[in-house]
Amino acid sequence: MLNVPKTGETSYADGKILQGIVDGVGVVTFNNPDKRNAMSLEMWEGFGQALTALRDDPAVRVVILVGAGDKAFVSGADISQFEKTRHNAEASEEYSKRSAAQRALLADYPKPTIACIRGFCLGGGMQVAMLADIRIAGSGSQFGIPAAKLGIAYGYDGLRHLVSLVGPSWARLIMYTGMRINSAEAQRIGLVDRVLDDAEVWDATLEIARTISGNAPLAIKAAKITIAQVLKDPAERDMAAIKQIGIDCMDSEDFREGRTAFMEKRKPQFRGR
Ligand code: COA
Repeated sequence: MLNVPKTGETSYADGKILQGIVDGVGVVTFNNPDKRNAMSLEMWEGFGQALTALRDDPAVRVVILVGAGDKAFVSGADISQFEKTRHNAEASEEYSKRSAAQRALLADYPKPTIACIRGFCLGGGMQVAMLADIRIAGSGSQFGIPAAKLGIAYGYDGLRHLVSLVGPSWARLIMYTGMRINSAEAQRIGLVDRVLDDAEVWDATLEIARTISGNAPLAIKAAKITIAQVLKDPAERDMAAIKQIGIDCMDSEDFREGRTAFMEKRKPQFRGR
């Protein structure tokens, strides 16, 4: 079991999505361990609600996404719902719209996000993990996109992120075979950033989150905005947004605090303004 501290949790989707705050770090837990945290439509919607609540909470500076139990991050969409909700192109479009709306929230999330991955990270779970800013994985984790084994077309956004992380060749190998790869291979190809012992992955992720939340929020926002623009096609880049966040940073109280604290040899206290 992951020793995720449970403080002031709010639940969505009949408890299958949990949202809590640990030391100023927001945590969203995919909580359907009996089904390896497979995502039903209700869970996608609950996920969106939890993300929105943490986005709008000024006390939260960074958000961790984690799966309950030790067997899975998320094993993909809940296949048992497919017969009813995703059986043909028309139904699938409606299904995709409802789940994509929640993933769009994560894609445009204004705060840093970290996926803490143990066990299976498959299909839609990979999509969630790839949309997070950073991926920290346990050594026993396994990754794959079994769309070709099910007859599903994996969407543009998911593939765009896969290609940007692992390159087109590995993306093809993963998609054409539907194979699962282990944590060492996932790290080697750039799918995950750091691999730790399963027992240490939660504490290590929380430590990174705490470090981020102690840094200057505007400087982190500047990095987040700028890196997102770098990944876009040149014609779509919002250079004005990059310029504006640069101005906001350099005119901020936090920049003054950062340089004063350095000169006074003390830890800075950042306020995000
Ligand atoms: N949707 C619905 N149910 C799922 C699921 C999913 N994506 N993934 C796992 N489950 C369910 C299983 O049906 C099983 O239910 P049961 O106990 O009622 O039989 C339970 O979760 C445990 O799964 P099981 O296969 O027995 O566990 P495992 O540890 O041997 O294997 C997986 C785990 C994740 C490798 C395997 O369940 C699997 O391949 N799941 C499908 C993954 C997938 O194709 N995802 C992409 C969907 S688009």
